[in-house]
Amino acid sequence: IALGVLVSGSGSNLQAILDRVADGGLDADIRIVIANKPDAQGLERARKAGIATACVRHDEFPERAAFDGELVRLLREAGVELVALAGFMRILTPAFLTPFAGRVVNIHPALLPACPGLRAQGQQADHGVRLAGCTVHFVDEQMDHGPIIIQAAVPAYPDDDEATLGVRILEMEHRIYPQALHWIAQGRVRVEGRQVVVRDASR
Ligand code: GRF
Repeated sequence: IALGVLVSGSGSNLQAILDRVADGGLDADIRIVIANKPDAQGLERARKAGIATACVRHDEFPERAAFDGELVRLLREAGVELVALAGFMRILTPAFLTPFAGRVVNIHPALLPACPGLRAQGQQADHGVRLAGCTVHFVDEQMDHGPIIIQAAVPAYPDDDEATLGVRILEMEHRIYPQALHWIAQGRVRVEGRQVVVRDASR
């Protein structure tokens, strides 16, 4: 599958995706990595892997729809079929989600629908949850809301804080995101309303 990845920051999930593509665990062709900030470390990771990159600065666009339109233009030009948001910190509008309807996925560092939004790791630590985790889901027009493809839990302990819990969650993110993308790449994922059905999900 022709994949485009959008990042804003460190890009460790992008790195996990690159690593799985390299070792054959993810059957995808990463066509382009786009960041909304020039200093996003994810851009450097992509360059090192020989992947095309672009930076589209959101602060250079008067409104969200114009920014989204530029992302769509670049992704289409690169032949992208599936878009993975990997720590991409901008909310996408219909200008993006209509052309890529059903073809955008996101990873969120909590067991949705618990703890949507920012600082999800901190929300979980502050709440004193015993099970934390992460979710890969299709993106719809509500934040952290679309149909869930895969979730994985990690333990949370009383002495955890945002940082320690965040590390444990992130390690799990790196396992489930490439897995979910691989299922989609293999054509094994079907959406029925809010339910995502994965054929042979054990593999
Ligand atoms: C991850 O925790 C992801 O779930 C969240 O933002 C963080 C991005 O980390 N949406 P990275 O840039 O992939 O290292």
